[in-house]
Amino acid sequence: MKFFIDTANIDEIREANALGILAGVTTNPSLVAKEKNVSFHDRLKEITDEVEGSVSAEVMAEDAEGMLREAEELVKIAKNITIKVPMTLEGLKAVKKLSEKGVKTNVTLIFNANQALLAARAGATYVSPFLGRLDDIGQNGMDLIAQIAEIFDRHSIDSEIIAASVRHPMHVTEAALHGAHIATIPLKVINQLVKHPLTDQGIEKFNNDWNK
Ligand code: E4P
Repeated sequence: MKFFIDTANIDEIREANALGILAGVTTNPSLVAKEKNVSFHDRLKEITDEVEGSVSAEVMAEDAEGMLREAEELVKIAKNITIKVPMTLEGLKAVKKLSEKGVKTNVTLIFNANQALLAARAGATYVSPFLGRLDDIGQNGMDLIAQIAEIFDRHSIDSEIIAASVRHPMHVTEAALHGAHIATIPLKVINQLVKHPLTDQGIEKFNNDWNK
């Protein structure tokens, strides 16, 4: 499983990229709205200059024609822009057209296996099931990852599964075990993945012994 970071904050992206583990970035309108004094376009340029892997940029139009118009502008920013499209009927039409043009797509806001299968059949490069938001309403987000992984495997579907709405380290381990190809993770959780109290204690003991 590969790691993407889920943020539009350039400092966080640079911090994660310095760790050498970053394969891509996902943004969404709520994350972009937190960023002040910078346009969406300029921020995407900064991100694509920093990260070589896929950078997801979401379209805001609700109709396929509008999505395609926005996508046309977004892909001009850099060759690693992936167009993030919501899981709707219009979104599927847009994904179909974009995939025919060779533009990478990430179908977002996936909450059941049928949505993922439809997105894949429309030509999505990535499908993004939202774990945390399912857990929030008492449904098991991880079961969804497992279902999608099994369906894609059984039907030889190439679309990659991005475990999204990741809230804590157990989501990351479980997503990897259940067959997600990628997890997109906030910086706070990436940093939590590194930590273990026995690692910290071990370093302290080695330092103390060395200083003796
Ligand atoms: C994924 O692409 C989304 O940006 C993200 O993971 C949403 O997470 P949230 O449910 O924490 O907002």
